[in-house]
Amino acid sequence: MWVPIDDITADERRRIPTLNTLQAAGGQSRPLRQLGDQELDEALGRIRETLSRIIDLQKDTSDNFRVALKSRVVASVGRLGIRVGPDFAAGDYSIFYKAEQNDRILAVKALVPAPGRESIAKDFVKRARVVQMINDPSAISIRNIVPESDPVVSWVVMDFIEDKTLAELMKSGQRLPAKSVATVIAQLAHVAVELHDGSQHILGPVQPNHVHFDGDRARVSLLPIANETLESCRISPTKLLNATELPYLSPERYYGEPIDKRTDQYHLGILALELLTGTHPISIKAFSDLKSSAAFFESPRASFPEGLRHGQPALSFIVARMLARDPTRRWASFPHLIKALTQVAEENVPDVIKDYVRDRYREKLRADEAFFRSFYHTLFKRADIKKLFEDRGVNEESQARNLRQTIASILHPAYSTSFEELTRKHSEFVIEDEYYGLFRDAFLAALRDADKDLDEEAREESQDAWRAVLDPALAYMRQQISIMRSAAPSPIALT
Ligand code: HEM
Repeated sequence: MWVPIDDITADERRRIPTLNTLQAAGGQSRPLRQLGDQELDEALGRIRETLSRIIDLQKDTSDNFRVALKSRVVASVGRLGIRVGPDFAAGDYSIFYKAEQNDRILAVKALVPAPGRESIAKDFVKRARVVQMINDPSAISIRNIVPESDPVVSWVVMDFIEDKTLAELMKSGQRLPAKSVATVIAQLAHVAVELHDGSQHILGPVQPNHVHFDGDRARVSLLPIANETLESCRISPTKLLNATELPYLSPERYYGEPIDKRTDQYHLGILALELLTGTHPISIKAFSDLKSSAAFFESPRASFPEGLRHGQPALSFIVARMLARDPTRRWASFPHLIKALTQVAEENVPDVIKDYVRDRYREKLRADEAFFRSFYHTLFKRADIKKLFEDRGVNEESQARNLRQTIASILHPAYSTSFEELTRKHSEFVIEDEYYGLFRDAFLAALRDADKDLDEEAREESQDAWRAVLDPALAYMRQQISIMRSAAPSPIALT
């Protein structure tokens, strides 16, 4: 429909050929600008009527269509003795219905049939047959799949999950606690392992509204409609099934490289980041924003908020590795990744980070005199700390020896025992609360200098790793000193 507002020449009209085949909404041969008041009122009335008729017509067809689809689903699923109830969610490609069988609540996902989309429905059912075999408790169970004898409508019957989705949990203003994020991502990675082992399929992009979480267990449907999950779409990587996919493009997909199971690390890494920060790292409102994806791929850590880098350095280390631009720089295997995440969920420093730190120390720092000097130089900018060391007669040589011993005891597998003697010694002199943070900062500054030759991501990875190891050790030392102090008899009690 079009509306003639102003005069256009016959020549201009020829240059817009569709104008002749479309209908002028006002039914007027003269443009609105040339009409008198009364004629204009009448023309606007006709335009209003015409447009509202078209809009109603469309609503009517989609309503009718829904009714028709539902009756087909009811009949087809009904043959299994499953009663189909109201729909509760809809996407471009599918509608979800609540259903019931023997008092068990189920969900039916039915594909909306449309010309040109037959391969999507076919692939969807094919994938359902593969993922039906997955037993992992975090995979939403598939109970029934449309039989091949029913070519009219494609559907799958799944368990109905009452728990809130991660998107809903985040909407109520809650950013997911780090422990929960580690738990959720570890569980989803576990599902991915089973999927990868038994098939060529991958999880695909996982958005917060795809995952249900009851506080302990994450549950995800393995039947999302996405380019990465449907075979026929994979061969045309630029095909977008849904605009919300754009911020979830992996670097592989963005650059047109092959997608494999390592791409799932990226998908889960993005989910982790979104849960930890409360927002998606890439916002795409215009095509030009895709540029920001490329920048994010090159240095993901640059988008990590300071709260994550400083507050959860182990998770920062883990997630950044999942997001590495080059898939060969991601985690060598999912089990390694799952182990590290599980250790974070248990509030321990992951072994892989301790090993990383130990190796870097042995290979490089241990013999780097400049590193030790730089540490003390920064720490001694505070006159009171300098005096603390000087009062105890510490010279440059013993400084380096002390720091070597400090690192050795921090890296000791069981520092609670190796710290006992040290804590006693440290409790003899005054360590103000802020010294612990200054100690860590001086260390990380010296480390940054020592890591000059690394590329930026590697340098920042080293910072995350050392912070993840230093902070709990310093906190432990501080706690032990305060316990020791409060347990010691006061001088007054002695007299
Ligand atoms: C986890 C944290 C720490 C560990 C594992 C640690 C470990 C050590 C070790 C192994 C020594 C050498 C001890 C010896 O010669 O017998 C030492 C000395 C020392 N530490 Fe720490 N330290 C820690 C934190 C701190 C902090 C935060 C400060 C305050 C800025 C501090 C101040 C000192 C001083 C002044 C000495 C020299 C003591 C002396 O030689 O008499 N330490 N520390």
